[in-house]
Amino acid sequence: MDGFTRLGLSSWLIEQCKQLGICKPTPVQENCIPQILEGRDCMGCAKTGSGKTAAFVLPILQKLSEDPFGIFCLVLTPTRELAYQIAEQFRVLGKPLGLKDCIIVGGMDMVAQALELSRKPHIVIATPGRLADHFRSSNTFNIKKIRFLVLDEADRLLEQGCTDFTQDLQVILEAVPVNRQTLLFSATLTDTLQELKTIAMNKPFFWESTSEVRTVEKLEQKYILVPEKVKEAYLVHLIQTFQDEHEDWSIIIFTNTCKNCQIINMMLREFSFPSVALHSMMKQKQRFAALAKFKSSVFKILVATDVAARGLDIPTVQVVINHNTPGLPKIYIHRVGRTARAGRNGIAITLVTQYDIHLVHAIEEKINMKLGEFAVKENEVLQILTQVNVSRRECEIKLECTDFDEKKEINKRKQLILEGKDPDMEAKRKAELEKIKKQKKKFKEHIKQAMLKKQDTEMHRKQRKSQEQKAAKDQQ
Ligand SMILES: Nc1ncnc2c1ncn2[C@@H]1O[C@H](COP(=O)(O)OP(=O)(O)OP(=O)(O)O)[C@@H](O)[C@H]1O
Ligand SMILES: [Mg+2]
Repeated sequence: MDGFTRLGLSSWLIEQCKQLGICKPTPVQENCIPQILEGRDCMGCAKTGSGKTAAFVLPILQKLSEDPFGIFCLVLTPTRELAYQIAEQFRVLGKPLGLKDCIIVGGMDMVAQALELSRKPHIVIATPGRLADHFRSSNTFNIKKIRFLVLDEADRLLEQGCTDFTQDLQVILEAVPVNRQTLLFSATLTDTLQELKTIAMNKPFFWESTSEVRTVEKLEQKYILVPEKVKEAYLVHLIQTFQDEHEDWSIIIFTNTCKNCQIINMMLREFSFPSVALHSMMKQKQRFAALAKFKSSVFKILVATDVAARGLDIPTVQVVINHNTPGLPKIYIHRVGRTARAGRNGIAITLVTQYDIHLVHAIEEKINMKLGEFAVKENEVLQILTQVNVSRRECEIKLECTDFDEKKEINKRKQLILEGKDPDMEAKRKAELEKIKKQKKKFKEHIKQAMLKKQDTEMHRKQRKSQEQKAAKDQQ
């Protein structure tokens, strides 16, 4: 029997899969699809690029075809680009159903979204912030009857990071029915298992791929030890080398801040590399345009922040370069997972400064393998060093002349206002907190010094006493 037929999927869905080159189920699909079809909650933890999306899309489409009504399913995901990608999978696989979907993400027109929601689409794919905003501002739709709630990249949605989704998630969870099927997927679920069980309450089926190494087999993982000040020269050298040797390879460069992302992109453009940037300070239209250019291989280099670290599926990506060593092993796993997907080969190279060595050790421990050193012709790097550093500095100055930092401040204030906070009060509160922190630190230091002094006096006292005892003994 055909692999997917054995899992209980209908022939029309199997036909759709075949058209996409999906012929044999991957382990996560093999294990999770039958359980989902049986009606169980499901938590699936499988490596990057292993087909987790189809593992939830296929059984949902099958159930939808049996009893279609809207709104049938809500999918939550941490980034806007990922929401569009998931919607695309639903559309392609569910084409024979005449599926109506609706994407609710930030940066897009809210009125148009509200209108679409009121038309009762079968599937809603959303980022938590914008969907929660719709709940807060209108009551023209409800999701009280949904059958499926999916959290893709579930651990990220529960994390209290720089973008904290927990409050929005709370609003959404209050709006969905208790009687639903909940499906949670990620390549890194295990750290947040307990929290996840409070969302998938219905005795969830938990499946995790059994493999010692947490990253995919066909991914070559390397590092280069570089002094901070010459990182960019190494980066330019690496890109030049890959471009010369493999014309058709696409490369993603991850860096830590929007500003760095912007500067590196400007600098690569100065060197005539076909590069585009993707970060959260860009307008949504620019973000989509950049990604589209990269996906179509018109531009072969994408410089991105971690907004592109999770879920994005771009088969042409052969190389991932970490311009900064990720502070968390989890982030490393997702970043490098943008290459070597669905059984393909790929290389990940991490630039490591002397201050990041402990981070590499933490990564190696988590993924359960050692990174190898990437050989670089250092004399070639030296030759371009001055030119690259001058160019970086010029780009920094150019950016300073624009209102990039000012925009960042405005965005922060806008965000606070959206969260119902007063930006000025927040700034005051932060300053107060900072003051208290400083006072606490000073107090701690004071206590530490006092303790040390006390220990010192005690030690001297003991020394003196033993000397006196010794002297008394000698006299006797
Ligand atoms: N059974 C299959 N056979 C071959 N290719 C497949 C199969 N299932 C999915 N794929 C393809 O594999 C690629 C990766 O799938 P997907 O994006 O679902 O990975 P993922 O597990 O969600 O990864 P990530 O953790 O990065 O989000 C997609 O291009 C998809 O079309
Ligand atoms: Mg995915």
